[in-house]
Parts: sequence; structure tokens; C-alpha cells
Amino acid sequence: MLFLQLPLLEVLLPGGDNKDDFQEPVSFQIIRIYSFYNHSWVQTLGSGWLGELQTHGLESNSGSYIFLWPWSKGNFSNEEWKEQEKLCFTSSIQLIQAFQNHASQWQLDYPFELQTAAGCELHFGGASVGFMHIAYQGSDFMSFQNNSWLPSPKGGSRAQHVCSLFNLNQVGLERADRLVSDICPRLLLGLLDAGKADLQRQVKPEAWLSTGPSPGPGHLMLVCHVSGFHPKPIWVMWMRGEQEYMGTQRSDILPNADGTWYLWKSLDVEATEAAGLSCRVRHSSLGGQDIILYWKHRNSVGLIFLAVIVPLVLLTGLAFWLRKCW
Ligand SMILES: *[C@@H]1O[C@H](CO)[C@@H](O)[C@H](O)[C@H]1NC(C)=O
Ligand SMILES: *[C@@H]1O[C@H](CO)[C@@H](O)[C@H](O)[C@H]1NC(C)=O
Ligand SMILES: *[C@@H]1O[C@H](CO)[C@@H](O)[C@H](O)[C@H]1NC(C)=O
Repeated sequence: MLFLQLPLLEVLLPGGDNKDDFQEPVSFQIIRIYSFYNHSWVQTLGSGWLGELQTHGLESNSGSYIFLWPWSKGNFSNEEWKEQEKLCFTSSIQLIQAFQNHASQWQLDYPFELQTAAGCELHFGGASVGFMHIAYQGSDFMSFQNNSWLPSPKGGSRAQHVCSLFNLNQVGLERADRLVSDICPRLLLGLLDAGKADLQRQVKPEAWLSTGPSPGPGHLMLVCHVSGFHPKPIWVMWMRGEQEYMGTQRSDILPNADGTWYLWKSLDVEATEAAGLSCRVRHSSLGGQDIILYWKHRNSVGLIFLAVIVPLVLLTGLAFWLRKCW
């Protein structure tokens, strides 16, 4: 089964210009944010992510999952999902109670925030690694390894206290272990399979050029925008003829709301050298037909012509019309 999934993984794996990125694993995780406002008020937010794609929401009151894609149930039955919801809800309540009950002992000042991430990573060889992390006020606090909770160095003695307490709960430890090393990898494989059509979809990029803020006198900032593509790996380069232009700056690859991606690549050139430069885009959806956009020197003479001649013509027209009327 794993073997069958490998070609799929290759398509899914995120990457940039670098071939080495294809070694990256694919993961599924549930993340939650617990905002502790006071002794009686905690708000939770949760979501499920397949790699960088959100697949699940979580209702904060009932703890039930919201399936964001038709295939978000993977190959789990409704009964299995109900079971998972119950387990997740129970452990979430236990976590809240533990922190509420020990707030003064652990010297936690309200308001404070916990973030948890629980899931698994599937590596290229087919091995799966489960993980569970808790952050306190935005920094590493403790993590689950080898069937027990380990405090992070940043968590100090407070994290040690919390870990000792959590490690007493044998049922909780076993539940956590089963979640990350059995349930999660099964779900992950099921999702990769059920979501194939969306995860592997090929959407062509659109590209356009613009100028950015002027980097200095006599210089131009040329920006090549590329948007709406899927999957994420893409190659964008400023070129002079067949030569790649170095000294470019690139944005991160950012998500669009529809699950496609966007990035820009900019280049600072002397204005006199801009003509003849092109932006070249290579993407799996283009089937070997790169998009090439040439920088056309904006004809400022033309603009002046328009700015002067058009009003002149209009004025002359107006003058004639007025003369006729009078
Ligand atoms: C706790 O915080 C909530 C929301 O801020 C507030 O409505 C409630 O009155 C607070 N309760 C106590 C006991 O302070
Ligand atoms: C987990 O346990 C295995 C073997 O039991 C050991 O090789 C490994 O170093 C342990 N990992 C950590 C992080 O303690
Ligand atoms: C779902 O698919 C995975 C991977 O193919 C498999 O191991 C598992 O048994 C299937 N069913 C369930 C309910 O997990």
C-alpha cells in the first residue's frame, strides 16, 4: 500500500526551486489553540491540516469535526469519526482541567495561551513518525516522545511539573501513543488516497509584470507575479535571453484562498538595461511550455504625447462646437 502511495507523495511534496525539497515528508496534524481567560473561561480553536492544506475544522463547543473537503473523512467510517471525536474531546477537557486546577501551583497568570499539535509524518521510505507538541505563550513547552512527555528546555521547571503530572496518567499516554502512531498514519494514507483528484490537480499559473517602488535614481524595480498555480513547486526566473539573471529577490510562496499559490520575483536593474529582460515560469501544469513575459520599455514619449494631445484635441473640438452654437 505504501509502495503504491509513493508516486502520489512525490506529486504532493512541497518544494521550491530546489530538487532536494522532494525529500520532504508529508504530514497530517490537528492543531488547537486554548485561550485561558480566567479560572472559568477557556476558548478553543482547532483545525486539521494535510501538509499545508486545511482539511478539517473543529467546532469549539462540541468538539466535532467539520469536513472541509468531500474526501476529508478519508477511509474512516462515521462510527470511527465519532469515536475519534469523543477521544479528542475527552483529552482536550482533561488538558483544560489539568491547567485550570494547577494554575496557581504552576504559577500560570491569566490570560495565557496553549497551542497543541498532534499528528504524524510519513517519510519518503514509508516510515511514519508520530508527534505531539505543546507550546505555552508561543514557545516550546513539552513534547510526547517514546510514550512519555518530555519538558522542553525553554519550559523550565514549570514544564517539568506538568510533564510529571501528565506522565502519571497511563491511560492518557496510551491514548496519545495510539493516536499518533496508529490512527494518524491510517487516516493520512486514507486522505492521500481519497483526496487524490484535488491534491494532484494541475492548475496553470497566470503571470504578469509590474514595477515596484523605485530602488534609486536611474534604477527600476521589475516585479514578476505568478499566481493561481497548483501544485506548489514552481520555477520562476528573470532572464536575459537564455541567461538567468542573478540578484533577484523572491517572496515566499503564499496561499490563495482557493488553495492555489502565489509568488513574486523582483529584480533591481538600471533603467537602461531593462529592455529585453524576460520573466520565465516553469510549472508542471504547463507541460513543458514555459510562460515567457518580456519587459516592454514603457514609452514615456508616448505617454507625454497622450497627455498633451488628447486634451488639446478635446479643447479644439469644444472651441469649434461653441463657435457653431454662437
Ligand atoms: C471570565 O472571562 C469571561 C470572558 O472574558 C467573562 O465574561 C467572565 O465574567 C469572567 N469570569 C470571571 C469569574 O472572571
Ligand atoms: C526512544 O527510544 C528508543 C529505543 O527505545 C531510543 O533509541 C531513542 O533514543 C529514544 N528517543 C528519545 C528521544 O528518547
Ligand atoms: C484506511 O487506509 C489505510 C491505508 O491504506 C489502511 O491501513 C486502513 O486499514 C484503512 N481503513 C481504516 C479504517 O483505517
